[in-house]
Amino acid sequence: MLVWWRDSGETAHPLCESHHIVTVTPSEIGIRAAEPVNITSRGQSAYPSMLQPLALAGKRLRNRIVHLSMTTFSNRDAKVGTTLLNYCASRARGGAAMLVTEPISMARHQHLGTRADAWNDSDLDGLRRLAEAVESEDCRLIAQLLERGRARNQPGRSFDGFGMSALPDDLSWSMPRTLLRSEIAPLIDEYAQSAARLKRCGFSGIEISAGHGHFFHQTLSPWSNRRDDEYGGDLEGRTRLLRELIEALRGACGQDFIVGLKLPGHDWLAGSIDPPYAAAVARRLTASRQVDYVGFCWGSHSHTLERHVPDGHAERVPYRSIIRDLAQAIPEVPVIAVGRITDPAEAEAIVADGTVALVGVGRALIADPAWVVKAQKGRAHDIRYCVSCNTCWERISQQRVPIACDNNPRVGLADELDYTPSRVERARRIVVVGAGPAGLEAAWIAAARGHQVTLLTRSTEVGGKLRLRALLPGGESVSSVYDYQHAAALRSGCEIVTRREVSLSDVLALEPDAVILATGADMVAPLWVPDELRVSGLVPDLRQGMREVLRHGARQAGAAVIFDMDHSEGTYAAAEHLHAMFEQVYIVTPRDTIAQDLPLVVRQGILRRMSEKRIRLVTLAEPLWSSRVESAAELDCVNIYNGDVTVIRDLAFLAWSTPRAPDATLALTLAQRGIVCHRIGDAMAARSLQVATSEGHAAGHAV
Ligand SMILES: Cc1cc2nc3c(=O)[nH]c(=O)nc-3n(C[C@H](O)[C@H](O)[C@H](O)COP(=O)(O)O)c2cc1C
Repeated sequence: MLVWWRDSGETAHPLCESHHIVTVTPSEIGIRAAEPVNITSRGQSAYPSMLQPLALAGKRLRNRIVHLSMTTFSNRDAKVGTTLLNYCASRARGGAAMLVTEPISMARHQHLGTRADAWNDSDLDGLRRLAEAVESEDCRLIAQLLERGRARNQPGRSFDGFGMSALPDDLSWSMPRTLLRSEIAPLIDEYAQSAARLKRCGFSGIEISAGHGHFFHQTLSPWSNRRDDEYGGDLEGRTRLLRELIEALRGACGQDFIVGLKLPGHDWLAGSIDPPYAAAVARRLTASRQVDYVGFCWGSHSHTLERHVPDGHAERVPYRSIIRDLAQAIPEVPVIAVGRITDPAEAEAIVADGTVALVGVGRALIADPAWVVKAQKGRAHDIRYCVSCNTCWERISQQRVPIACDNNPRVGLADELDYTPSRVERARRIVVVGAGPAGLEAAWIAAARGHQVTLLTRSTEVGGKLRLRALLPGGESVSSVYDYQHAAALRSGCEIVTRREVSLSDVLALEPDAVILATGADMVAPLWVPDELRVSGLVPDLRQGMREVLRHGARQAGAAVIFDMDHSEGTYAAAEHLHAMFEQVYIVTPRDTIAQDLPLVVRQGILRRMSEKRIRLVTLAEPLWSSRVESAAELDCVNIYNGDVTVIRDLAFLAWSTPRAPDATLALTLAQRGIVCHRIGDAMAARSLQVATSEGHAAGHAV
């Protein structure tokens, strides 16, 4: 078919098996709710070290799990909003011992509608309610102080930032004004007064965010702090501002207030902060014994920004060995481990082996606020795991919409914790067609509400096209989206019928009261593919092409080419897999670069790996089909602006990754029969995984 294979290895892949009908019921595979698999045979917790209490500044932490600071972008009018209240209360109730809030404005110039103000008395009520909601759940509430400085990660430049020196932000090239020496003391005083106000409102402490390339990070780094007054010059000078701030916070808030530091552990910028320098900074800043904990974070506001939120391509707990070294540099101070810790077993391991005293969990607590409680109660298998997709980061960095999650459709809702839908009074018959993440989500929610649900899919297994993504580089964790949904569907009594090419009569035979269509979408062949080849499959879409490559399994000579009009993550995962299978990989795109429809932090990782693997980009170009493709294995790629031709020789694989059109066949047939159905996810309009799960969730409630 599509590929000019040089040999013929034959390993059948499950995705390519022929279709027959299999019906799976919960009892057949023996799934029951809440099986206590995380309790040892003697009935002890499997997480004894992670669940040990600890004291900071005389305050009790019931265990070692700390919710890391994450902006939710959910407030309005500079006041604590209901979403933030719900969000924090759920994570406190879900078992975190300490919760660091999103940044709170602690100086007048930080005023921003989406952050609560603590620099004046305008939202004392909101701050008190937040403290009450968290502290009453035996969770210590820590307010984060973050000063942006010159950093900006949205498109365009900012013109109102300040820095230690007049040097541009590495990412946006925004130019800050230099902070005057005379401005430093009043600024520190304003922060300290705000911290005291927060203490009066019931907060247990404050965290200075001095990493991520923001202002306090800039003060510490020789890369960005080139001052020659007493706030620069050497380690002593560059740590001075933070030391004065720590002293002022302690003075204003007393010894019974937690003062924490988030410090850069490694920013991977030449002449900036590497682990030995980070250790020296940490030692100097904690020497006065006024700091109650230190968390190390990663990357900077530059081409290394993606290091702070490692995605699915990173190993699990990727910074473990650096963290161990840094923690040993400050043995007297509890250290928080930060970075892609998504499973309680990982947290247990790094506390048990003495690497750290505390474990910071960020995105995994967005995905499942009951993460700690589920581990505690022997239900770790029931966690909705973070898949490290960074959709959450994208949402807040766009500054348009509140935080959201691919694997948690209820972030910030009051009933989010360990969510179980309430049951309906009258059960109805529901048919769901399509077992991707949208269909599965709809099916389990509808079944958990008490409906009689049948889920039909033509595939051999549930998971839809996400299953293919899970087989490609960096995709291993996405399987937990459909694994959770599948288990929940079976637990709720949903009947799942696989290998069924669903027709109108299949649907009618089930006499449904409501139909949900989650039949997905298919890529549309680009115009340069000749008409006669569109149906033959000689030049396939990338999904079909990758199924063949996975099935074939053996390394090939020659070049693999992806025509990219997709710019989403799966296309580059495919390119990486092809890199392991072919001599050379090319990505041809009509745009001026690749990965444009992705969060910046995901795009950076892709650009890094494409560069490291020497995957070649042919930008501003489209293939031009000619007989030489088949006769000489040569593909012409034509620049869309000037017509220049780049010839790719020794072509061995060619596939296209393009916008997807919904599979509407069944929807139209049902409509002709007057049967109303809910179309969700890609079957409505091809979009993201986050939209698929949230629309599935909504449809499961709507029927
Ligand atoms: C959506 C999102 C928002 C974040 N906002 C902040 C922030 O406001 N302040 C901060 O210090 N770190 C922020 N971070 C970084 C996290 O605190 C944490 O360092 C990072 O997510 C790595 O931890 P994780 O792998 O457990 O998610 C944010 C991360 C995410 C994903």
